[in-house]
Amino acid sequence: MKTKGALLWGVKQDWEVEEIEMGDPVAHEVQVRLAASGMCHSDEHIVTGGLPMPFPALGGHEGAGVVTKVGPGVTTLAEGDHVVLAFIPACGVCPACSSGHQNLCDLGAALLGGVGISDGTHRITARGQGVAPMCLLGTFSPYVTVHEASAVKIEDDLPLDKAALVGCGVTTGWGSSTKVADVRPGETVVVIGVGGVGVNAVQGAAAAGAKRVIAIDPVPFKLEQARRFGATHTFPSALAAMDAVRELTYGRMAEKAVLTVGHIHGEDIELAMNLVGKGGRVVVTAMGDISDVDVKLNLFMFTMMQKDLQGAIFGGANPRFDIPWILSMYRAGKINLDDLATTTYKLEDINQGYQDMRDGKNRRG
Ligand SMILES: NC(=O)c1ccc[n+]([C@@H]2O[C@H](COP(=O)([O-])OP(=O)(O)OC[C@H]3O[C@@H](n4cnc5c(N)ncnc54)[C@H](O)[C@@H]3O)[C@@H](O)[C@H]2O)c1
Ligand SMILES: [Zn+2]
Ligand SMILES: [Zn+2]
Repeated sequence: MKTKGALLWGVKQDWEVEEIEMGDPVAHEVQVRLAASGMCHSDEHIVTGGLPMPFPALGGHEGAGVVTKVGPGVTTLAEGDHVVLAFIPACGVCPACSSGHQNLCDLGAALLGGVGISDGTHRITARGQGVAPMCLLGTFSPYVTVHEASAVKIEDDLPLDKAALVGCGVTTGWGSSTKVADVRPGETVVVIGVGGVGVNAVQGAAAAGAKRVIAIDPVPFKLEQARRFGATHTFPSALAAMDAVRELTYGRMAEKAVLTVGHIHGEDIELAMNLVGKGGRVVVTAMGDISDVDVKLNLFMFTMMQKDLQGAIFGGANPRFDIPWILSMYRAGKINLDDLATTTYKLEDINQGYQDMRDGKNRRG
């Protein structure tokens, strides 16, 4: 079918909204009519060149919608089903999936390859060329054709524009605190960078029983918002928070820190490691450039204080379990999805949306 999508033809360019040809589902694929797509910072990394994708790339990896077509051999979905698209597919049978680590599914190896995992061919074309959908999804389009491993069925009466955000940002942030940092009641948790992902780390930490949730961000409106999601203290930078965290904790420092800045640099690691105390854990959820290999870390203190530095993808979640689980908590009023998106854009306004993200004017677009 002919539809449209936001394409990127090279690094440091604008998104171009133009006609694309979206192929019908082949074996194990479904077509989904999207209700909404979230604007995650990870797509911005394709623009800056930090995240390598073949061009042209169709952006977007956070969406929800309704299944409109079902390809041969699909067993988990039917036409009319409501789905959240998970930014990492879960095959269910690889060692990672079968040991309860679907966020590390072996199919993740194909995430940025640009071709369908069913048959290794392009499902989307534009200007006569194969198009690579971000994270095998490409949600900056009214329709996507995706592998059934990327689509998680949800209950029909949930608002799809809210559910869309659970496909990446919500689950990533919430899980970074509740699963990977493993926040326990009474802990002091620092969240560095409280944008679309970080604000969910804030609400995850609060829900897990943290006694203090310290939000750090240079943008005052993000800090104000973080308080609505459970932050107890706010600071404009990690450096500015250092003395206050020391004072609040009688010198023991925080138990956990979650790093969710837009673009991580090596120095951010040392600051975060200094905000946690003996036996503390720093969870790195933010992404840096693929070529960036320098980390600043005091090796003596790292060892002697037995600190833990832990990477995290998709919040350590099992999308097939955790997406419906998080939505069930939304239904019960235990997680706020309603106030996450601060601005809504039309597909045609995507460049404005990303400019607003760079300028700190929106939280999730
Ligand atoms: N690991 C994963 O699975 C995963 C999934 C989704 C997103 N991400 C990454 O998480 C990061 C956050 O994504 P997002 O969509 O929330 O981005 P965002 O732009 O919405 O939020 C980033 C926030 O960090 C703040 N910030 C920037 N520099 C800072 C600093 N030095 N100290 C404190 N705050 C700072 C910004 O003001 C902003 O509020 C990105 O790097 C993104 O690529 C990772
Ligand atoms: Zn994302
Ligand atoms: Zn798997």
